[in-house]
Amino acid sequence: MKIIKAKNYDEMSRKAANLFFSQITFNPNSVLGLATGSSVLGLYENLIRSYNSGDLDFSNIKTINLDEYAGLGKTNDQSYHYYMNHYLFQHINIKPENTNLPDGLAKDMNAECKRYNALIESFGGADIQLLGLGLNGHIGFNEPSDVFPKETHLVDLEESTIKANARFFADEKDVPRQAVTMGIQNIMQAKKVVLCVSGKQKASILKAVLFGDITPKVPGSILQLHSGLTVVADEEAMSEM
Ligand code: GLP
Repeated sequence: MKIIKAKNYDEMSRKAANLFFSQITFNPNSVLGLATGSSVLGLYENLIRSYNSGDLDFSNIKTINLDEYAGLGKTNDQSYHYYMNHYLFQHINIKPENTNLPDGLAKDMNAECKRYNALIESFGGADIQLLGLGLNGHIGFNEPSDVFPKETHLVDLEESTIKANARFFADEKDVPRQAVTMGIQNIMQAKKVVLCVSGKQKASILKAVLFGDITPKVPGSILQLHSGLTVVADEEAMSEM
């Protein structure tokens, strides 16, 4: 694993964006695995800046997102569809038909998980997968569990995840209790993985993820086995290492 240390959130965002900048420059047909949450917002801002200055072209880029809340549609401003359009897609020249997220409103969630899993398989996984880290060690919405779930699946969110994500909602009771997420195999299939971690509140879980036991109780710990992992973390997130 490679670890890139950044002074703060802004530097982490720039350094992580540089990895995506190189990927898109060297392979303009890349499949990007994308994530949501606050850790990756600054990275998206940097990519938009590079696009606006004429240094990046997304016209042949494809994207596959990690996850989506069950029950939230594209127009709901808390859905990950909405987030991706709002913070990235509408600002760059990506073709909407080249962007992919699980459908949170699918009538048959099992069929939707199968469809999304097959889509990831058809790409052979992402060329580069962006990840944030949950406070409980989750990646995507793979919550702590007794096994590493392999494929795209419907997951019950942990109480701690619901609480952590409540900050984006008007009320905690509005946070969906379930989500569709890429499984661990879907994520590990990516050729490269970029994990962005910022802030003191992530320091102890980041240490456990990178240097603790590899266990489904700490889902992100599986990343220790990925040969193309780059961690971009700020000083606060690395303060316990
Ligand atoms: C959500 C997402 C994760 C993300 C995590 C961390 O639960 N499903 O993919 O990594 O939040 O979010 P943040 O970066 O806001 O701390």
